[in-house]
Parts: sequence; structure tokens; C-alpha cells
Amino acid sequence: MQHDKIEKNVGLMGVLVAIVVAVGGIVEIVPLMFQAQVVQPLPGQKPYPALELAGRDVYLREGCYGCHSQMVRTLRFETERYGHYSLAAESVFDHPFQWGSKRTGPDLARVGGRYSDDWHRVHLINPRDVVPESNMPAYPWLLEKPIDAATLKANMAALRTIGVPYTEDDLAGIPDAVKGKSEMDAVVAYLQGLGRYAPKRGAPEATAQVGGGSAESGAAPE
Ligand code: HEC
Repeated sequence: MQHDKIEKNVGLMGVLVAIVVAVGGIVEIVPLMFQAQVVQPLPGQKPYPALELAGRDVYLREGCYGCHSQMVRTLRFETERYGHYSLAAESVFDHPFQWGSKRTGPDLARVGGRYSDDWHRVHLINPRDVVPESNMPAYPWLLEKPIDAATLKANMAALRTIGVPYTEDDLAGIPDAVKGKSEMDAVVAYLQGLGRYAPKRGAPEATAQVGGGSAESGAAPE
């Protein structure tokens, strides 16, 4: 077919462009769905324990992802600041995953263990008490709200139907795991678990694969 026919016919051009883009997309995306390092958990990686799963739900409900990503990029200034870059396998049980790119606040993929539980509580009740220049909203009501075991159970069961390996024991253990716990306890547990399966700082893969970026810090405040 002569090229000027395509160039002079917007409809035909549109259809052909759509076909080319679709083929390109399929070629890039489909192999990813079968790559072990993307679809299989890391050795020893387990789904979120009940309390952390409850915390993750609060995290989603409150829209924390609107200001926080959970994906450390493979750039030197990122790994210097946060720790080992994120691996796809770390999010294999996350539905939906929380990678994101919006960073009004810092990335949280490696925040587990960086602060004490008390620090997180004070920070969530009023961020300005620990970081005076912070513009993060306060979430004091999390202290008063109990965890609803029935909702959590339904949620865990739903995750199981899409392949997260929760067991009957996990489901049965929910009431005990969240008894007397507030949403605040749950969010703090969730935050403290973030990065649990990340390779430790300075692990061989980190130094081998990280490109030489500049030492500039990110734009987000810490
Ligand atoms: C409007 C944007 C915004 C929202 C929404 C937000 N944050 Fe933040 N967050 C920030 C900013 C800015 C900082 C840095 C200043 C500070 O530490 O308070 C921060 C810091 C943090 C830190 C400390 C990170 C570190 O490495 O120092 C944690 C943990 C955190 N936020 C958790 C949360 C959680 C959990 C939620 C949801 C309940 C949330 N944030 C919602 C903006 C936000």
C-alpha cells in the first residue's frame, strides 16, 4: 500500500497506529507476567500479618499514597537516602501495589524500623510535634477507632481468592490478632513492616547494579 494513502486518511492512520501500539505494548508487558522475579515472592516472604493488613487498609482509606510513594528507584541518590532499591517481588502480595511517584512526603518503602512506634504515634497524632515544618495532615482519630475483625476477615478471604497464600489459621487468628487494637496500632504496625524483605543496605546486588547518579537529595522534605 502506498504510504500517502495512510497519511491522507485519518481513520486508517488511527487504526494502524492503534495496532502498532497494541503489539508494542503486548510485547513489553506480557513477558513480565511470567518472569519469576516479578511474580514470585522472595525467599521467606509471607503475606502481611492481620494487624499490618488492617493498617494497610487504613493507609489506603486515608489516601496516604497521595503524598507517599513506596518505591525506591535504582538511582544512587535514592539508595543513599532510603536503602536498597525496591524489588518487584516485595509487592507481590500487595493488591493494589503502592509504588506511585507522588512524593509530597518521603518514600516509605524502607521506613520500617527507622523510627520507634512512639515516634510514629506522635507523628500521626500531630506531625508538627516532631517535624515542625511538616505539612502532613494529622490523623488523631485513628487512636479511637477499633479494628473491625469481620471486615478484615472478608478482606483477607478476598485476597486469598486472588492468590495471596493466607491459610485457614490466618483467618481464624484475626480476632485475637486485632483484639483491643486501634487503627493507630494497625497503621504503625504496617509502617514498621515496610521494607522487611528488602535486601540490607550494601548487599552485593545494590552496589553492582546501581548507576552512578549525583549525590543530590530528592525534592521531598524529610
Ligand atoms: C498532604 C501530604 C501527606 C499525606 C496525605 C500524608 N503524608 Fe506522611 N508525610 C508528608 C510529609 C510532607 C512528610 C515529611 C515531614 C514529616 O515527617 O512530617 C511526611 C512524613 C511521613 C513519615 C515519615 C517518613 C520519614 O522517612 O521520615 C511517615 C511514616 C508518614 N509520613 C506516614 C504517613 C501516613 C501513614 C499517612 C496516611 C495516614 C500519611 N503519611 C499521609 C506528607 C503527607
